[in-house]
Amino acid sequence: MKKIIALVGICSIIFACGGEKTESTDDTSSTSTKATEEAATVAVGSAKGEQLISQSDCLTCHKVDAKIVGPSYNDVANKYPATDENIAMLVGKIIQGGSGNWGEIPMSPHPAISTEDATEMVKYILSLKTN
Ligand code: HEC
Repeated sequence: MKKIIALVGICSIIFACGGEKTESTDDTSSTSTKATEEAATVAVGSAKGEQLISQSDCLTCHKVDAKIVGPSYNDVANKYPATDENIAMLVGKIIQGGSGNWGEIPMSPHPAISTEDATEMVKYILSLKTN
C-alpha cells in the first residue's frame, strides 16, 4: 500500500512535468521550465527511504495517513514543500530529535542514522503529499 502511494506520488510528479512539455512549443523551452521548477522543489520519492523507515523505529510513532504519537507522514509532506532547505531541516530533526512543530511531545533523536539515510527517509516522507 505504501508502495502504491509512493508510486502515485512519483507518477504525479512525472505527469506534472509531462504537462509542462505539451504546453511548450520546443524542447529547449521545456527544459528551461523544468530547470526553474527544480530550483524551487527537488524530486522526492525514495524506495530506499521507505525501506529504511520500515527497518527503524519510526513506525511506532508515525503512520503514513494517521497521527499516532507523531504527525502522519501525509501531514508532514503537506506542511513542507520539498526544497533542499526543508529536507536539510528535517534530516536534522530525525538525527537530533526536537519538538514544538506539532505539539509538546518530542521526536526522539536518532544519532545512529547517517545523514545519507535520513535524507532518503525525508525524500520518501515528502513524496507522500496529499494536497
Ligand atoms: C518516540 C516517538 C517517535 C519516533 C520513534 C519517531 N518519531 Fe518522528 N516525530 C515524533 C513526534 C512527537 C514528532 C513531532 C515533533 C514536533 O512537534 O516538532 C515527530 C516529527 C517528525 C517529523 C517532522 C519534523 C518537523 O519538524 O516537523 C519527521 C520528518 C519525523 N518525525 C520522521 C521520523 C523518522 C524518519 C523516524 C524514524 C527514524 C521517526 N520520526 C521516529 C515522534 C517520533
